[in-house]
Amino acid sequence: MKKFAVFGNPIAQSLSPTIHQMFAKQCDEVISYEKISAPDDGFIEAAEAFLSQEGALGCNVTMPFKLDAYNFARVEDKAAQDAKAVNTLMKTTNGEVLGFNTDGVGLVNDLINNGAKLAGASVLLIGAGGAARGVIAPLLAAGVSTLTLANRTLEKAQIVADETAPGKVEVVSLSDIAMVKPTVVINSTAASLHGELPCALSSELFERCDVAYDMVYKAEPTVFLTEASKLGAKNTLDGLGMLVEQAAAAFTIWTEKQPDTKEVVVALRELVSAQ
Ligand code: ATR
Repeated sequence: MKKFAVFGNPIAQSLSPTIHQMFAKQCDEVISYEKISAPDDGFIEAAEAFLSQEGALGCNVTMPFKLDAYNFARVEDKAAQDAKAVNTLMKTTNGEVLGFNTDGVGLVNDLINNGAKLAGASVLLIGAGGAARGVIAPLLAAGVSTLTLANRTLEKAQIVADETAPGKVEVVSLSDIAMVKPTVVINSTAASLHGELPCALSSELFERCDVAYDMVYKAEPTVFLTEASKLGAKNTLDGLGMLVEQAAAAFTIWTEKQPDTKEVVVALRELVSAQ
C-alpha cells in the first residue's frame, strides 16, 4: 500500500486525510494517510522515520514545520524557495527527498476553476508573510499583468518583493490600495480567523474587482469577503478551494494522477459548514 501522512502540531483538525482518501478513491489507488503530530523540535526525525517505511512515498507538512521541511529536503521548486516553506515532500526511487510548495498553484487553480481571469489581471495581494511569499511566483506564471503587494508593515512587503521577484512586484502602503484599481484582491493574512479585517476597505478598492479571495476559510463567509461583497466585489472565494487544490497538486506529484477536485470541494464545504 502507498503510504502518506501530514505532519503538524496541532494536527487533529486537519482535513488532509479526508481529501486524499477521496482523491485515492477517484483514482483507483489504495492508500494510507495518517496525521502525525511531531514535537516542535522533532520534525526531521519524525519525517525520516515515516519516509523510511516501505511504501511511504511522501507527506504533507503544515504549521509549524514548513521551514524545517524546507531545510530537510532538496528544493528546486521556485515557490518553495521564495517562501522558504515546503508543504509537500516526495521520496524519489533513489531515496532522495524533494520539497515543493503547492499552495500557490492551489490558489491559481482555484481562481481559474471559479472563472477568474488571471492573464492580464491586476492583482492586489494583502499581507507579506509566508503565505504571500509562496503565491507570488505562481501568480506571475499565470500571466497577471501587475502584482501589487500591500502590508501593515510596509518594509516587510518591500523585502518580500525584492527577494521573490525583483522588479516584477509593486509595493504600496495599505492607505493607497484603492489607487491600484485591482481586478483581483487577495487577502493572504489570517486576520479573518480572528474576525478582523487586514486593513480599511472601500468601495473605490473594489470598483474594478471581479474577485475577492480570502486564503482562510470558516464555516461562515469571512469578514473580509462579507465586506468585499458589500463594497462591490463581483465574486468572493474563500480558501477551501485552495486547500483542496494544493492537496491535488501534491497528490499529482506523488502519483502522477490528477484527481477531480470539484466534487471534493463540494463534499468538504458540507463538512466544514456542519462544524
Ligand atoms: P503566514 O506565514 O501564514 O503568512 P505570518 O508570517 O505571520 O503568517 O504573516 C502574516 C502576515 O499577515 C504579515 O504580513 C502580517 O503583517 P505584518 O508583517 O505587519 O506583521 C499580516 N497580518 C496578520 N494579522 C494581521 C492583521 N490583523 N491585520 C493586518 N495584517 C495582518
